[in-house]
Amino acid sequence: MSNLEVLQNRVKELGLKEVSFVKHGAVFTVEEGVRAVNISFEDGVSTLIFKTEKGFVGVHRRDDRKILSNELKKLMGVKSLNMATPEEVKNNFGFTVGAVGVYHPSLKYYMDESLLERKVINGGAGDEFTDIQLAPKDLLTITRGTIGKFTAPSERSVSGKKRILTGDRPTGKMHVGHYMGTLKNRVALQDEYEQFILIANIHALSDNADNPQMVKESILELLCDYYAVGIDFDKSTVYIQSEVPEVHEIFMYLANFTSVQQIMHNPTIKTEIKQNNMEESTPLGFFVYPIHQAADILCVNADLVPVGKDQAPMIEDTREIVRKFNSTYKVKYLHQPEGLYGVATNVPGIDGNSKMGKSLNNAIYLSDSEEVLRKKVFSVYTDPNRKSATDKGTVEGNIAFAYHDLFNEDKQQVEELKRRYREGRIGDVEVKEILFKVMNEFLTPIRERRKVAEGMKEELLRKALEGSKKVRGIARGVADQMKEAMLIKY
Ligand code: TRP
Repeated sequence: MSNLEVLQNRVKELGLKEVSFVKHGAVFTVEEGVRAVNISFEDGVSTLIFKTEKGFVGVHRRDDRKILSNELKKLMGVKSLNMATPEEVKNNFGFTVGAVGVYHPSLKYYMDESLLERKVINGGAGDEFTDIQLAPKDLLTITRGTIGKFTAPSERSVSGKKRILTGDRPTGKMHVGHYMGTLKNRVALQDEYEQFILIANIHALSDNADNPQMVKESILELLCDYYAVGIDFDKSTVYIQSEVPEVHEIFMYLANFTSVQQIMHNPTIKTEIKQNNMEESTPLGFFVYPIHQAADILCVNADLVPVGKDQAPMIEDTREIVRKFNSTYKVKYLHQPEGLYGVATNVPGIDGNSKMGKSLNNAIYLSDSEEVLRKKVFSVYTDPNRKSATDKGTVEGNIAFAYHDLFNEDKQQVEELKRRYREGRIGDVEVKEILFKVMNEFLTPIRERRKVAEGMKEELLRKALEGSKKVRGIARGVADQMKEAMLIKY
């Protein structure tokens, strides 16, 4: 009889009515198991088989928790406790590791108390294709197991979703370039992913050390901008960098896996040093920020990083550092994050500069009033050689058309406007009037939600501080895992 049949017979024999068996594709890891049946980690139960001096034992623990082996030894009254090897599991019990069933007649079982908090749990039914779903107390009936308290929360995502980490420097309000580059993606992804949004106030200080008040106030502006564009503070975890000091610890561990020369070759850092007139004297804190940013990403061991295209070199550096760390210590624990870049590679400024930026004084802010928006739209850089509406105009490099491409969803209209412009059959004023209308329609709901947010600043800040606590817990787990790999964990 197969392990699955043994379990099914036992369920029948005991007359358990509310137990179900679920078929799915072959499963070999907890992550895959969780995805296959579409449940979250806290409702998943893993069956671990250990070897002790008294023989083999089975242990049930929740998938969002880790075993405290000393507690477990005490409960079992044993001195030695080791995971059984895959061969031992296969040869003695017929299970494949990764798809161990919740029950085998020859094993004594222990169940962690935290499982009893869940209504229905999901575990392996004995083969790679079948899960069992049942109340935890029914599992106890099946196994005649002993209840004990021998786990703690693990740093693993409790939702079973992949993780996003993304962030902004609090140095002012956010503009439409931020929206197209990253905010839009964040709103779209917050359901599908477990999303963390970092307010990088320490990074902001790295080139604004003498302006702490501005950085502090900008945090509230960012919170309002997030709320305004539709980031849901209950779905996404917003947090403040300075509240998670583990980032500095992780930074230092990572710093051994890159070089001064490599940072000097990072094109974003090069440009920023020039822009900030720091060629003669670059603050060290500023210079190392690509690595500190890698540490931000690793605080939650993120899988995906939605950012503007200008951040791509930072993601590449992070990936390389992760590869080196993992291969040096022969671990797989750190994830190589993927960058996710916005629809617009770059949103140009109203002055024609290829990048919109606060310091360049060429931005349209999410919080701009209708009047300000109108003024800015009517001042955008167009074709400088065009003197009248009947001159043939150039569309390339013309910011009015660049914005039409980005914001005007009526693509047919955009093509029509471009054609007329090229043929000298439309004036700048008409092109801009339509652009204003389109952009105002886009910004009006954001502006309205931002007004609401302004009355909620305290509440939003409180949420960000709560989020920071949560991230701190996760980051501690990552840092400890790194310490273990480096043999500095005592
Ligand atoms: N450097 C980013 C910027 O200037 C902000 C940032 C800091 C960030 N840490 C991060 C972005 C981690 C993504 C991930 O926009």
